[in-house]
Amino acid sequence: MAKKKLSRFDLQGMKDKKESLVWITAYDYWTARFAEEAGMEMILVGDSLGMCVYGYEGTVPVTMDQCIYHCEAVRRGAANTFVIGDMPFLSYQVSVEDAVRNAGRFYKEAHVDAIKLEGGRRVCAQIRAIVDGGMLVMGHIGLTPQSSGQLGGFKAQGRTAETAMELIVDARAIQEAGAFSLLVEAVPPEVCRIIRDDLNIPVYSIGAGIDADGQLMICSDVLGVFQAFTPKFVKKYESIADKTIAAFTEYAKDVRSGQFPQPEHTYKMVDGELPKLEKLLKR
Ligand code: KIV
Repeated sequence: MAKKKLSRFDLQGMKDKKESLVWITAYDYWTARFAEEAGMEMILVGDSLGMCVYGYEGTVPVTMDQCIYHCEAVRRGAANTFVIGDMPFLSYQVSVEDAVRNAGRFYKEAHVDAIKLEGGRRVCAQIRAIVDGGMLVMGHIGLTPQSSGQLGGFKAQGRTAETAMELIVDARAIQEAGAFSLLVEAVPPEVCRIIRDDLNIPVYSIGAGIDADGQLMICSDVLGVFQAFTPKFVKKYESIADKTIAAFTEYAKDVRSGQFPQPEHTYKMVDGELPKLEKLLKR
């Protein structure tokens, strides 16, 4: 039986029943299929695709068109999973109109179930306008990679009482603006717990400890594909990079030593056609 796609009310119900939700990023058709088969409740087509797929040093160069393109592939691979499109840098910061129009592109062109954007009080006008446009918005606070320059790099946030309080105020404002859920990235678990207990909407963690309504991980980290750096909060469940290099090395060795391809890897000519071809060649 096909898996049933969850609605925002199912997600809210999971928080209310204290059931932990699990989700992962995906950027392509295959990963999305495997995520759906593995029973992920949600998939994020994160702008982390800039680093994980395109090899940029951060997420700032990522464009709307790139995000839409990858969301479309993910949607095809995971028709029955709640898919979230991630709004890239400058697709919502400049104006409320930009924010609504670009959020709408995710819906119209890639058939997402929700969009996510980074920031606290300073993006609440955008959140409110997108929600007024009939769309679902997930907030994202803590380590927000698009503003990592302002944060002094990819660093944990909310480690002092004062900065933690700023995050709590941001979280309340995001809920008040109409977001259906919130992602908290790279903050101490105590701060995430306070936010989770304080808000009515689901609060998800990536690198913010276990006291959340669910956990997100980057697929390239889980699989051991992303090699530029490994954040402290990552647990690698596979080493696909090593396995891929080993497979490619083996393939190259086989070709160079004449072990590949073998007859079983080739197509046969139709019986009796080779002598005819040889005759044709002699004309
Ligand atoms: O782009 C992304 O994958 C994200 C995560 C880092 C939370 O926003």
